[in-house]
Amino acid sequence: MSELIPADIDKLKDWRFEIDFEEIAWAIFDREGESMNSLGRRPTEELAAIVAKVEDAAEKGEVRGLILISGKENFIAGADIREFDTFDTDQDVEDALNATIGLFDRIENLRVPVIAAINGFCLGGGLELAMACHYRIATREEGTRLGFPEVKLGIFPGLNGTVRSIELAGAMDAMGIMLTGRMVRPGPARAMGIVDQLVPTHHRLRWAARKAVLQKRKSKGAPWWKKLMRKAPIRDILAKQMRKKTAEKVREEHYPAPFRLIDLFAKFGDSRRRMKPAETTAFAPLMTSDTARNLRRVFRLTEMLKNEVPKDAFKPQRVHVVGAGTMGGDIAAWCVVCGMQASLQDLSEEQLDKALARAKKLFKQRLRTKPAVDAAMARLIADKDGKHVSRADVIIEAIVEKLEIKQKVFADLEAKMKPGAILATNTSSLQIEDIAKPLKDPGRLIGLHFFNPVPQLPLVEVIMGVGTREEDVRKGCSFVTAIRKFPLIVKSCPGFLVNRVLAPYMLDGVRRYQEGEPREKIDQAALKFGMPMGPLELSDVVGLDICKHVAETLNIGPVEDSELDRLVKNGKLGKKTGEGFYVWDKGKPKRQQATFDQDDLEVLGSDLVKPMLDECERALAERIVESADHVDAGVIFGTGFAPFRGGPLHYRKQQKGETAKAV
Ligand SMILES: NC(=O)c1ccc[n+]([C@@H]2O[C@H](COP(=O)([O-])OP(=O)(O)OC[C@H]3O[C@@H](n4cnc5c(N)ncnc54)[C@H](O)[C@@H]3O)[C@@H](O)[C@H]2O)c1
Repeated sequence: MSELIPADIDKLKDWRFEIDFEEIAWAIFDREGESMNSLGRRPTEELAAIVAKVEDAAEKGEVRGLILISGKENFIAGADIREFDTFDTDQDVEDALNATIGLFDRIENLRVPVIAAINGFCLGGGLELAMACHYRIATREEGTRLGFPEVKLGIFPGLNGTVRSIELAGAMDAMGIMLTGRMVRPGPARAMGIVDQLVPTHHRLRWAARKAVLQKRKSKGAPWWKKLMRKAPIRDILAKQMRKKTAEKVREEHYPAPFRLIDLFAKFGDSRRRMKPAETTAFAPLMTSDTARNLRRVFRLTEMLKNEVPKDAFKPQRVHVVGAGTMGGDIAAWCVVCGMQASLQDLSEEQLDKALARAKKLFKQRLRTKPAVDAAMARLIADKDGKHVSRADVIIEAIVEKLEIKQKVFADLEAKMKPGAILATNTSSLQIEDIAKPLKDPGRLIGLHFFNPVPQLPLVEVIMGVGTREEDVRKGCSFVTAIRKFPLIVKSCPGFLVNRVLAPYMLDGVRRYQEGEPREKIDQAALKFGMPMGPLELSDVVGLDICKHVAETLNIGPVEDSELDRLVKNGKLGKKTGEGFYVWDKGKPKRQQATFDQDDLEVLGSDLVKPMLDECERALAERIVESADHVDAGVIFGTGFAPFRGGPLHYRKQQKGETAKAV
């Protein structure tokens, strides 16, 4: 089953192959019917045919080298994740890996130079293939990125990428990119040694690759001082540091892959011969684990949300945001980061200045170079009087949460806006239908519910009121995708989806605290379950006045005379006033030192999320969103619900033993 059966070289579908007049073999990867190249079974079998052909030609002296290059905008985005769930047992995984590893070894052992010519994404299995080549050339273009995102899927490189990356870049850099899954730009990739040569644009790639073959170029590998890092005792010290740093970010019980990778390096890091098979043995159980299956499910949920957006003609360029506070300022700035022009309106000059200053900080972080930051600042326009409304493709209101004021602002906007533009509110607690009531065309109003902080949170709920036109909702989704976020269509209801399910979780934590459970225990239990923040800390961060308001709106009580009520009455509103459930110091809550029984924490953690899961089931029963998968996607991307559990409803099904192993 897992043996690679080389394809017929004359009937390739995913690769094009030719040997040119200079006796250079070109293997051009251009997967049939796909916009992105990924390494699945068929392309690998075709590559096996190409390698066999080149081996034979090299033997006869009929070929001078092989160049692997892409026929698409990207080199290879990774292994084909769709095929990952076909493996039932660890042995299946090992067999499949060994077949491809054998092929990569043959590429490495070819007697003629093999060059990887890289443009766009070169990730995961794609980078492992490039590393099996003798020399790597990449373009300096903006879209070129190299990396190993495997840890995000609960695994690590399994086609001997652990071994080869350490050989090429040294342990520090290679382990750094494998442990974090971050993507590397061409410049740093060259500095690390992952890439040997850079060319300015893809137009120069073929020429440079040809020259590399003719000059028989070969990567030099890591310098001697980097090689030293693989030797004991330095390796042990490094491994210890890596373990500490990784444990600060993720828990081993939730995300074992990076810890197994560190074990692998610690044990076998100085020996290619021993590390190669050990990589396969350590990789297989990760691949078949529930964590990896659930993380693959999360990946598929992101694809689902992206693919649902129609590729229509709505291409928004200009955005107008009313309200330059916490949300409005950041929404406008984020649109600018994504290449749009944004005008920002507010009653207060001071708020506008503050928003612009905050935007500049964001541009510096995200866009880096001075020309890019200057260009972004030029695209962000302070527009106190709303002069840009009539030119905007998208208008978003993010002013105070007061119905009458919003209604008045919308009446004014409707009179000025151009036909075909979208009109949206960022309200979190008012009903779309109420806000739309005074409009001449109430069917045009949609909700675009962003989350705070805007630059970091990937989800936007696209709210559909009772009379909202579907076309405007679709356009709203196109806009959300254009600003690189996931759109989730939610029917108008109190709290929409995310706040509706988050509120019972937070208020149940508050109730338990009020009944005498230590706050540190409650928050630790939630972290043990896998939530990004415990309910009490989260309440303090959101603001206790807002929590109280949400509890009242959603009718979750009793709020009167509760601990929450008492704190709010005393002006202790959480992080923003310096005290709530915790006292806050320099942006951090002061916690009592306490250790709790781990089994107790585990039980409490599952109990804490129960009200959230119940609310998810109710939201699904009411069809607030389209399906259970949409509930899971919304709650994972909107609240950070433990991704390794695959989503709240999926988790509940698993608890009840209702899911099959493959998800
Ligand atoms: N803060 C959050 O975490 C969050 C999250 C999601 C949604 N929301 C929603 O976003 C909206 C804004 O919230 P925020 O936290 O940014 O508020 P904010 O108080 O930080 O900002 C509101 C801004 O609106 C301006 N403003 C008030 N009336 C105006 C008018 N008539 N014309 C122009 N500007 C006016 C104010 O000067 C202020 O700068 C609210 O509807 C809120 O429910 C907030």
